[in-house]
Amino acid sequence: MVSNTRLIKLSPFMDKKYGDLLPLEEMKEIPFPIRRVYCIYDVPSSMRRGYHSHIDLEQVLVCIQGQVTIMVKTPFEEENVVLGSRYTGLYVGPMVWREMYDFSKDSVLLVLASKPYDVDDYIRDYNAYKRLAYDYFSDYAK
Ligand code: TYD
Repeated sequence: MVSNTRLIKLSPFMDKKYGDLLPLEEMKEIPFPIRRVYCIYDVPSSMRRGYHSHIDLEQVLVCIQGQVTIMVKTPFEEENVVLGSRYTGLYVGPMVWREMYDFSKDSVLLVLASKPYDVDDYIRDYNAYKRLAYDYFSDYAK
């Protein structure tokens, strides 16, 4: 997978009689202290959003309903991850560029984040991102 990303196996409790339950706990399924939770939903299927990286933030994305595709990339690697199962979360660490697209109707993307919202943690300019991420991931590979 792309550096600083990985799939996290989730284990919902399935119960035909009572219904299902998906636990997400910090330092267990989620590999960092959870400081923020948000949902992305009601996204038109033609919409592509994201177009940024974070400097420090760690996140886990779980599509708890429907399906969405997440493009993650660095200056060296790129991958499109289809999230469409409550059995899988996508961990996205620092300095990974992400774009989200192909939201199915009624999809709900749950995002767990390691820090409060901080506009200064975003890199939205792709050229600036490429310069910073090139250095970051060159060091990372050593
Ligand atoms: P943004 O991060 O731009 O969404 P995306 O990159 O997925 O398209 O966020 C959209 C708006 O929501 C923006 O005005 C900031 C606000 N926002 C918060 O107030 N708190 C949050 O935790 C997040 C993620 C966004």
